[in-house]
Order: sequence, then structure tokens, then C-alpha cells
Amino acid sequence: MTRGPIILFEGLDRTGKSTQTESLVDALRRVGIGAELFRFPNRETGLGKMINAYLTGGSLNDETAHLLFSANRWECKDALVASSEAGNAVVIDRYIFSGVAYSAAKGLEREWCVSPDLGLPSPDIVIFFKFKDTAKATERGQYGEERYEKVEFQKLVRHEFEKFEEESSGSWNVVYVDDKPIAEVAEEVWQIVGSVCEKGIEDEIRPFQW
Ligand code: TYD
Ligand code: MG
Repeated sequence: MTRGPIILFEGLDRTGKSTQTESLVDALRRVGIGAELFRFPNRETGLGKMINAYLTGGSLNDETAHLLFSANRWECKDALVASSEAGNAVVIDRYIFSGVAYSAAKGLEREWCVSPDLGLPSPDIVIFFKFKDTAKATERGQYGEERYEKVEFQKLVRHEFEKFEEESSGSWNVVYVDDKPIAEVAEEVWQIVGSVCEKGIEDEIRPFQW
């Protein structure tokens, strides 16, 4: 059975993940390829509403917040698997690596952070959006309104993401987004995912391991 690829976009706040994931889904549909967008946190669910309250000023201890973000992924697992198996390209805006990177940046142990996500559907392709200069993000609109949108903290998160990038031994696709027009980034993304989305994936979905 051929299924749709699971394509994950990761990166710091304001790197353009939401814009690019939405535009990729539109572009795929325009050429007749089924595509579905999953966004984490998914603020629509019951848990997602708790996460939203936390991000906009509520208080939870770090472990509880971490487990809520993870549970928010688990509650979407069946829908995500079904979508891929139905042949859709599954485009994900943040996932496991955001979960670990933000919590580890707060000082939680990395291994502890990964453990609740073990077994989630693994992405087939990871695209990592990066600024060469982390401070660039602050020049983008609406930056700084939410809990984590501070330059010093973002540098710590970046370092955590880069550990995963290194561990991937080159399988992560890094896209630098500094000063690039939206269309240019979209074109780079298309180069990475276009043909896989056309062909589909033969292998079964792998459970995430680390
Ligand atoms: P974000 O993608 O910025 O959501 P939106 O586009 O709706 O603003 O996610 C909100 C914040 O949550 C962001 O700073 C990253 C953080 N986050 C975690 O700390 N853990 C997680 O597991 C996820 C998915 C996000
Ligand atoms: Mg944000």
C-alpha cells in the first residue's frame, strides 16, 4: 500500500513555518495531490485550550506543560495516521522536536523530555527552518507576545534543535530563511518534497525512536 509522506516543519518562533505549511498544502492540492495540515500545539482540543491558556500567561510547572504538549500530539495520532494511509501528504507544523527543544531549553533533562513522545508516528521528511542570525526573528511582526518569544531563550531552543539536526546525520533538510522572500522559501521546500508527494511512500509508518 502506498501512503502519503509525513512532512514535518520545525524551527524557532517566527521562522515562517505556518505560512509555508499552509502554502505547501495549497500548492499540493492545486496539482491534485491530497494534503492535510496538522499544527502543534493544536489549540482546538480540550488539552489545546489548556496549552493556550498556559502560553498566554497561565502557570503550570515545566513537567506538566511538557506532558500536556506531548498528550496533545498523542490525541491527534489516529487522525494523522489515517490521513497518511488515505494517501494524503501530511504536513506538520511543529511536533516532537519542538516539544523536546523548548522543554530542554528550560532545563528539563533531554532524555526525560523525549520519552513521552516515543512511539508517535515518525516524520518521513524533516525541514528545519533557521535564521543564520537568531535575533532576526525579533524584526518580524508580533514577536514577543507569547511566553517563549525572547531572544535569549530562543538561542537556547535553537541549540536544542541543532542537537537533533546533528543526530540526524544529514537527513534533516535545513532551509535558511533570513531575508528570503516567501516564494523563494516555498520553492526550496517544493524541491525537497514535490517528487515524494507525487510518488507516495511504500514503507509503513515507523514509530518514533531516539
Ligand atoms: P507556535 O507554533 O508558535 O503556535 P502559533 O503559531 O499558534 O503561535 O507554538 C506556540 C509555542 O509553543 C511556541 O513558542 C513553541 C511552543 N511549543 C512547546 O513548548 N512545546 C511543544 O511541544 C510545541 C508543539 C510547541
Ligand atoms: Mg508562536
